[in-house]
Amino acid sequence: MPYVNGNDKLKILLRSAAIKKRVIQVAHQITKDYKGERVHLIGVLKGACIFLSDLAREINLETSIDFIAVSSYGKGKQSSGQVRVLKDLDSSIEGLNVIVVEDILDTGLTLSYLLRVLQQRKPKSLRIAAFLDKPSRRIKDVKGDYIGFEIPNEFVVGYGLDYAERYRNLKDVCVLTVPSE
Ligand code: IMP
Ligand code: MG
Repeated sequence: MPYVNGNDKLKILLRSAAIKKRVIQVAHQITKDYKGERVHLIGVLKGACIFLSDLAREINLETSIDFIAVSSYGKGKQSSGQVRVLKDLDSSIEGLNVIVVEDILDTGLTLSYLLRVLQQRKPKSLRIAAFLDKPSRRIKDVKGDYIGFEIPNEFVVGYGLDYAERYRNLKDVCVLTVPSE
């Protein structure tokens, strides 16, 4: 049984075995699409760290990794759309095949901002790999090029995704219910 905080309720939505299988499929698709080329994975901290580390190990290409951290000023579970770079990339992406690796594509506010910032830095190509996609929540018209799973409009944790920094280390993706809300 995983650790649960207080009276929080967790219900499994995606099991680790299914996640493993799907991540391998996505990595194989990337390997096929970029055959003979180098890819540069940019993980969006902190949520994407688990997905990125599993995905990267299944990609059979010359691969480099960098990280960026952004914050969206929002209260609780809401994203406000005002995004700020907290930690920038270590190196230039000019001329590289960049794949932005995100935990979840929700409203699309974070990724539409990030894509704008990264496009100005002249990558050769720029695509998105999102572990999860909640299309029903979209405000900005952003499409993921590689999607792990499409999920319904529920707040989920695990496999990198957090609630107040908890539960990122769960192997499964779970729907979280917090009793006080
Ligand atoms: P956006 O709304 O597409 O800008 O998503 C911004 C960020 O909100 C994501 O990168 C996640 O960190 C967080 N987020 C959105 N939905 C969930 C969720 O269901 N669980 C945990 N974090 C989420
Ligand atoms: Mg988060």
